[in-house]
Amino acid sequence: MSGDRQRWGTKIGVVLAVAGSAVGLGNFLRFPVQAGKYGEGAFMIPYLIALVLVGIPLMWVEWTAGRYGGGRGHSTAPGIYDSLWKKSRFVKYLGIGGIFGPFLIYMYYVYIESWCLAYAYYSLTGQLSNITSSQGFIDFLSNYQGLSDAGFVSGTVPGFVFFLITFLLNMTVIYFGIRGGIEKLCNIAMPLLLIFGVLLAIRVITLFAPDPLHPDWSSINGLGFIWNTDLSALKSPKVWVAATGQIFFTLSVGMGVILTYSSYLRKKDDIALSGLAAASTNEFAEVIVAGAIVIPAAFIFFGPGEIVEIANSGAFNLGFVTMPQIFNKIPLGAMLCFLWFFMLFLAGITSSISIVQPSIAFMEDEFKIKRQKAVKIFGVVAFVLCQPALWFLHRGVLDDLDFWGANFVIVVGATIEIILLAWIFGINKAWDELHLGAKLRVPVIFKFITKYITPTLLLALLIWFFVEDWLDIITMKGVPPENIPYVLGIRLVLVGILLFLAIMVWIAWKRHKSEDKAKDL
Ligand code: PHE
Repeated sequence: MSGDRQRWGTKIGVVLAVAGSAVGLGNFLRFPVQAGKYGEGAFMIPYLIALVLVGIPLMWVEWTAGRYGGGRGHSTAPGIYDSLWKKSRFVKYLGIGGIFGPFLIYMYYVYIESWCLAYAYYSLTGQLSNITSSQGFIDFLSNYQGLSDAGFVSGTVPGFVFFLITFLLNMTVIYFGIRGGIEKLCNIAMPLLLIFGVLLAIRVITLFAPDPLHPDWSSINGLGFIWNTDLSALKSPKVWVAATGQIFFTLSVGMGVILTYSSYLRKKDDIALSGLAAASTNEFAEVIVAGAIVIPAAFIFFGPGEIVEIANSGAFNLGFVTMPQIFNKIPLGAMLCFLWFFMLFLAGITSSISIVQPSIAFMEDEFKIKRQKAVKIFGVVAFVLCQPALWFLHRGVLDDLDFWGANFVIVVGATIEIILLAWIFGINKAWDELHLGAKLRVPVIFKFITKYITPTLLLALLIWFFVEDWLDIITMKGVPPENIPYVLGIRLVLVGILLFLAIMVWIAWKRHKSEDKAKDL
């Protein structure tokens, strides 16, 4: 069954691909917002604790479960869960989240990715360097998104064209498969984006304190904003929830994406070291590189008083308004601005292709549809379902998708995954599986953490969510009345996708059963 499976070409290839999935817009836009939002020194301690207690264990859980399922012919969560818990007929349905979650994120992620491509283009054509004020950048962005004169729909022709190019690029990479598409792209894009990131970070740090009126608005104090720790902030549960949320999103765990990537490994390919290497690459890109770009740059030019406000204005404002404004103030700014947006685009595309793969793999494994055909089917469906984010951006559609994808599905998915592997499959078996072919022995304390601490924290997070936010979200509290039909509409679409996937799983397993019977005869 598994003889004709796709495989990764090289060991470094899979590490770069998983790191490619992890290093994304979340690193360069979402992280600085979180690090800035809670005030000086509040974020990093909860963040690093969440990394060790939740992020790294989940990374290993996904690599282990993925390679195990891959060995049994399954690359997506329904099949992988089914092979982890043979006795249950129900567990495969829990795996639907592993296709649904990535698809849901895809419905808005590619659109944002396409803004980065557009802005990279506009920084080359000089359109960005002509803008002189903050308001100018805000207007440019809302004109591009079609928000400034949005009537029934938002969106613009250039916005659609860049979306289309980005979408087609994504499909092309996937069309060429794991080794010929994903691995090839990541082998080039990952080193390139890291080089761009390091160059940008060096540039920002070596600006020191360019404003003679504010000698303390320096890059070093900007780093201090992130790294000086304010222990009193640790008392707020909100910081902990936000830090854990960021860890999930940035590492791409809990989604079923890494499961799929690691399913293309061979039985004895190292996963302990590779998993750690991919997570470390992501943390390097986030904490060291992104941490040295956005917050310090904003600190230098706007001062400590405004950082929290800038962060609160959101990731898009930070990336597409504040950053180009800063580049306009420094020598060689236009080139740096291009580097920034092109780096964001590379980070985006290496992530977005990883969220396509589960859908493709599901069709390939469970319905024996050829990859090229699966890409075409996915292309048509996803193209249609990406449209709401584009044309109804002003109706709160993107925010709602982001909430369900980036906050809810990830935490639920991670909880299911870890309980399945550590409790049902069994932590001892999982531990042996993790070390099969491994060059690294994971400290035994992680056995304890994975079995007890991580699941407890995840359950606590879910309970917190139900107590704090659940009712407000279901009743759409805070959604302006004119947006309610749109938010409701998109939620119905999501429920429809979930039901569709459940039926597909049901059909696939019915077919497996009759195939098995036919084989027995
Ligand atoms: N990790 C990606 C980022 O930081 C986003 C992502 C989340 C990708 C979940 C895949 C799955 O942008």
